[in-house]
Order: sequence, then C-alpha cells, then structure tokens
Amino acid sequence: MKKNTELKNDLEVFLNKTSKKSPKTISVTCLQFGDTGKGKFVDIFANWADIIARGTGGDNAGHTVICNGESKVFHLIPSGITKDRDGKVNIVGTGAVVYPKTLQDEIDLLHSQNMTTDNFKLSLGAKLIMPYHILLDRLSESKAGRAKIGTTGKGIGPAYADHVARRGLIVNDMLNPAVFREKLEKAMVYVSKLMATADPEAVKAIMFHEHLEKGLYYQEPKSDLKSVLRSSLIEDNFFNVEAIVKKYLEYGKKLSQYITDTEAYLKDNLGKKKILLEGAQGALLDLDYGTYPYVTSSNCTPAGLAKGVGLKESDIDISFGIVKGFYMTRVGKGPFPTEIGGSVSEVWCNGNGTREEEDTIGHNDVNQKNSFLQGVAIRRAGGEYGATTGRPRRVGWIDIPLLRQGLNCGKSEIILTKLDVLTGLEKIKVCYAYRYEGPDYNYGKFLLKKGQILDKSIVIPEVLEECAPLYKEFPGWKEDISKFKKVSELPDNFMNILNYIFKNVDAKARIISVGPAPEETIFI
Ligand code: IMP
Repeated sequence: MKKNTELKNDLEVFLNKTSKKSPKTISVTCLQFGDTGKGKFVDIFANWADIIARGTGGDNAGHTVICNGESKVFHLIPSGITKDRDGKVNIVGTGAVVYPKTLQDEIDLLHSQNMTTDNFKLSLGAKLIMPYHILLDRLSESKAGRAKIGTTGKGIGPAYADHVARRGLIVNDMLNPAVFREKLEKAMVYVSKLMATADPEAVKAIMFHEHLEKGLYYQEPKSDLKSVLRSSLIEDNFFNVEAIVKKYLEYGKKLSQYITDTEAYLKDNLGKKKILLEGAQGALLDLDYGTYPYVTSSNCTPAGLAKGVGLKESDIDISFGIVKGFYMTRVGKGPFPTEIGGSVSEVWCNGNGTREEEDTIGHNDVNQKNSFLQGVAIRRAGGEYGATTGRPRRVGWIDIPLLRQGLNCGKSEIILTKLDVLTGLEKIKVCYAYRYEGPDYNYGKFLLKKGQILDKSIVIPEVLEECAPLYKEFPGWKEDISKFKKVSELPDNFMNILNYIFKNVDAKARIISVGPAPEETIFI
C-alpha cells in the first residue's frame, strides 16, 4: 500500500492531467441508481482534499467506513470523517436532511473508536427530519400504503416535502427553544390532519421502533375520541409534542459545537482550499431527472450537489461520475429494463427475499442458465445488499441508454467500479437500445408505437417498464484483473466491452476499479 504522501502526489498528477488546470474543487456522484462503490473513491480523494462536503439526501445513504481496521456503516456523516484526525474538515450542507439521532449516534460511535469529530461542521440551514416524517414514510410504505416506492423508511420524502411546503424545521431551530416550539406546533396542525385516518395499531407499531427512540415520542390518543375529532386536536394525536421538544433541544445542545454557516465557510475557501463534494444516491434516482416517482426526494446530480452546499455547478473543476462496471443495481421499486431474472427478481428483492436465505441456498454459479439464479449469484459475488436496509439489490446488465441519461444530468469523467465482480462470467451482455412494447404513448409531439426502437432512455415509468432491452453479447474474461496496474495489462475481452461502451457514450473512462482496496485502482 502506498504511503499517504505518495498517494497524494499520484492523485495530484492524475487530477492535473484530467482537468487542464490545477483543480481545487471536485465532485463525486453516481450516474446510476446509487450503490456504485462511491465510498472507495471518496476515501481516495479525501487524501487529496482539505474539505469534504455532502449537500443532498440524509441517512438514506449508507457507506462503509474503516475505523481502526473495523468496518462500520455510516449514513449521514461524510465518508471523509476518518480523515478528521488529519485536520480535514467534513461538512453536512444546507441541502441535506438531518435526523439528529442518527448524527449523534454516528458521532458517539466515532468517539468510541477514538476518532475525532473536531472539524465536523453541520449547516445551520440543513433540514430537520422529525419523528412524524419517519412515521409518515413508513405508513405509506406499509401494506396499507397504496403508493409504495420502496423507500428506506428514514423520512426523507416527507421531510423534503415539508421543506417545499414551507412548514419544515431547520437545524438551527434546535438552538432556539421558542422558535422550535412555535414551528413544531404549527407543523403539528398539518400532521394532525394526516393522522386522522391513520390506523392506530400501525402507528403504534412504527412509533416503538428503535429508530424512533422506542416510543419516546408516542402518546396514546384518548380512546373515546373518534378520528374526525382527533384531527383537530394537536394534543391528542399520537405525538407527545413535549417529548419531541425536549429531545430535539437536547440534541441541539449536544450538536451546537458543530452547527455553523457552512455555505459561508465553503465560499470563503473556494479556490483556496481543495474541496471534495460527496454525492449521495444517484442520477437515476434524482427527483427531476430520474425514474420519477421511483426516486429519492433530492437532486443527486453534480448541480444538485453544488447547490446543496451553497456553490454553483461551474465551481466544480472536475466532476467524476461513478458507474458500476458492466452490471447495474437498483434498490426498491421502479423500472429496470435489464434486470437479470426480470419480474421474478423484482418481486423477490422487494418482497421477502433476504440475504440470509440467499446465503443458505448458496447460489454461486454466475453462469447459471436460470436467469433469476444467475442474478442471485452475481448479487452474492458483488455483496449487493443495501447498506441502509439490508435488502437484496436488484441486479441487471449495464444499460447504455440509461447511462446516457445519467450523463445528461451533468457531464462527468467516468469512474468504473466493481469490475472484478464479473470475472469468470462466460458471457456479458450490454444493452445498447430498447424495443418499445407498450401501447401507443404520446411523448410530447411524438407518438411512441409498439415495436419502435429507442436508443434513448425515456425515464417515465409507463414507458421504461415497456422497454425490452436489446443486447450485444461479449465473451467474458477469466483472468484475475485485480492484480493489474495498467490499462494495457487488462484482458482483450475486458477491453472489447469497455471500448464498445465508451464508443457509445459521450464520456471518457478515467479510473477503473478492479478490487475494493485503494491500490486496486487503475488511473488512465
Ligand atoms: P428514500 O430516499 O428513502 O425516500 O427512497 C427512495 C428511493 O431511493 C428508494 O427506491 C430507495 O431504495 C432509493 N434509495 C435511497 N437511498 C439510496 C441509496 O443510498 N442507494 C440506493 N438507493 C437508494
């Protein structure tokens, strides 16, 4: 393993070569559905950076961080936190949503591992996730909920919705008791109306979850009140407002040392210090440019990320886009044309399928003829289980039209990850276009008709769900690619696939990751 100073010099050379001018601000976002192995590259670039900042999403994200040799999963704190002891600053910016419990738990965990958080900064304008956001998210995802998205259940959507509807609370409110109480009581009027029709048993089951502090915020509604009446009474609506005020103000006190104007800090340091912007989720889960409504509730593109920390997209000198190498994954519901095992896989992954069961059955043959089982084998080979929810990730072949859509969301230099996972596959498929199989569909002034070939991804679910992928098949490679250090050493079969993909998209592959370790990386 290279020493820190050596690695830093290599990175400096690589970044200078990539951007023409000496870059000061770079971003790393995912061009697919998230979970592309961003953590490894945030960690590598954090060696170069002075400041690492997140600006979108919340604890729906999940990244593995190595603390004193042990791997720990973090959800909110940027992956660069392990570099805090080197004096690097980590930031959660204004565009993020913050559940104080998660943040405090992560800080406590770091301290218990003798890690520091002295240079951590939390934006005073970041949005607060409140207990009712988590309840509302989980209720709409429960059996009774009609519009399931397959969310992480962390209250992300409802928190952003309240922000847009101008009834949200921000981090700084926790430092001002009277303001906090006033805003909360106002919000509760709205929440109470939503609760009027909720099933009390379902509410209770969720409110006693560990994530909701085991019932701390719960209050039994008066049994003699009918739901219609309940809706008009803030003080009788499942939520113990006093308990919320008390707990959030306590969090405010504990977190106050970190709460600051992070936008001003970043603006002051722009062009002077090296800034790494760490994305969350992925372009295809972007609220505006993803497969809406099967998306997260923030903007996961480089532009969204820059805005989330108070900068402009043009402030980014190099934007790196991460793409999983020659396969894809998706967690939760939503269209996924190249899914291996199709709807059988979707039902399994979004239903009762678990990692434990897959481990017990032990499907390891990645060349399985049964495509569902082949998907299971690839999932197991890649360890494709949600870091936040543990759910099996749906696995599919790489999809060039969707990759183009990801690139439309912000021009990026490509980092290809997890390529070692497909070693040993006899055949690798690359989707280059789709055949539309659905009913007539008006797409603006165009009429889509059954049988039409599309080389562009129309991310509207009604269309994408009806798109049958057209594949070009390639022979795979058998060599252990993790040992290679240069592109010229990579097997011909590997390069044929890589060259085919990059002939068909307007981007260049700059980094190839051939294994999880930092040294298993080829810079081009
Ligand atoms: P939410 O962000 O919890 O509201 O979930 C909305 C959708 O985004 C669901 O399909 C989630 O599975 C997906 N999602 C959210 N965060 C991540 C992530 O970090 N990786 C992959 N998918 C995610």
